[in-house]
Amino acid sequence: MSTRVAVYRKEHFNAAHRLYRPDWDEAANTRVFGKCALPNYHGHNYELIVKVTGEIDPSTGYVIDMKVLSDLIQREIIERFDHRNLNLDVKEFAALNPTAENIAVVIHDLLRPHVSTQMDLQIRLYETPRNFVEYPA
Ligand code: NI
Repeated sequence: MSTRVAVYRKEHFNAAHRLYRPDWDEAANTRVFGKCALPNYHGHNYELIVKVTGEIDPSTGYVIDMKVLSDLIQREIIERFDHRNLNLDVKEFAALNPTAENIAVVIHDLLRPHVSTQMDLQIRLYETPRNFVEYPA
């Protein structure tokens, strides 16, 4: 019998960003990104849900120790992203548009090396209460 279980940790960060391509003119940026392209940035209250799926370890009864998972997200994501300007302060977005989609991929790729390959990792990121993305899909 499989005892694979999904565990979830919810975290939160505030960050500013701007959606903009420097290789496009103003009109093209406005057409595609609308107010998100305004030059002086805007902020979001991001809600991050990290899902880890794996077998229950019979010795502990855990899939993953939630304290370990929480500390990992704090160290790798919250400390880098919280109260930052994603475009200017986070090197992963120096040449990558910080859409919710791209932020979810970056978060996944920052966490993945620290989670056992026996476990699946999925990121859900809420940019607003109504707009959210998941990676891998
Ligand atoms: Ni935005």
